[in-house]
Amino acid sequence: MDVDALKEQARHGWSQGEYAPISALLRPAASVLVDECAISAGQEVLDAGAGDGNVAIAAAAEGASVTACDITPLMIERGRARSAAEGVDIRWVEGDVEALPFPDESFECVTSAFGLFLAPRPAVAAAEVFRVLRPGGTFGMTAWTPDGFMGRVFAEGRRFDPPQAEPVPVSTEWGDEPIARSRLEGLASSVRCERRTLRWEFASSQECWERLGSAGPAAARRRSAAAARSLEEMRSAVMGVISALDQGGAGAVVIEAEYLLTVARKRG
Ligand SMILES: C[S@@+](CC[C@H](N)C(=O)[O-])C[C@H]1O[C@@H](n2cnc3c(N)ncnc32)[C@H](O)[C@@H]1O
Repeated sequence: MDVDALKEQARHGWSQGEYAPISALLRPAASVLVDECAISAGQEVLDAGAGDGNVAIAAAAEGASVTACDITPLMIERGRARSAAEGVDIRWVEGDVEALPFPDESFECVTSAFGLFLAPRPAVAAAEVFRVLRPGGTFGMTAWTPDGFMGRVFAEGRRFDPPQAEPVPVSTEWGDEPIARSRLEGLASSVRCERRTLRWEFASSQECWERLGSAGPAAARRRSAAAARSLEEMRSAVMGVISALDQGGAGAVVIEAEYLLTVARKRG
């Protein structure tokens, strides 16, 4: 696996398009993570793969002392601007969750909403998070379940990717409870997993398709598919998933996008 190339691909992908519409879709999961990790005033919290700050801002609003890190410089810029505009004090640091730029045992809580699950070496990322956590500290993350809406959309998208020389672990494996547990149980004294959903409403399936591709690797993938003349095929595959999971009836499109919430405690 060419790890450096994958990291560069991630930085490039997450610099594409407008992230705010995606951030808004993910925002309710940030409050869930803050509640489930019992983040409170005075705690030292790291949000890894912070994007433009959904979890970091929610944690800072609780009075926590928050550091936000992300591998993509543009995300750091966006997060810094957003947290300043929202009047919250957050330390923004460029950093890879597989090589966190912090000393051992720096944080009481580490969170990652739909961030760490994208790292290509799950065991390295998990070990890094537990290295920077204090004994007794809490780690909370979210990841799309493989059989939920986004897991199925990702699976359709991957069919259009060029073949990899070596297989890269699929991000949604973190949304599979037995796999998530097996990756954390050696590091944690307890692991709790729960399936949750984000409820999304769109005026039409076309709006849903456009929103999902508005930023990030999905936007980059659509550009490559358009160049390879396979965008229409990709669109119809994703539209198939949207219509299969739409719960909205004749009016708006309503999707319950399922994810796995995992909360683990580091041995004391
Ligand atoms: C789907 S966004 C989620 C952002 C944010 N946590 C949220 O809930 O809105 C994924 C983020 O993970 C970041 N990311 C991807 N790979 C990463 C890595 N190896 N280390 C740190 N951040 C990474 C991307 O740059 C992007 O900002």
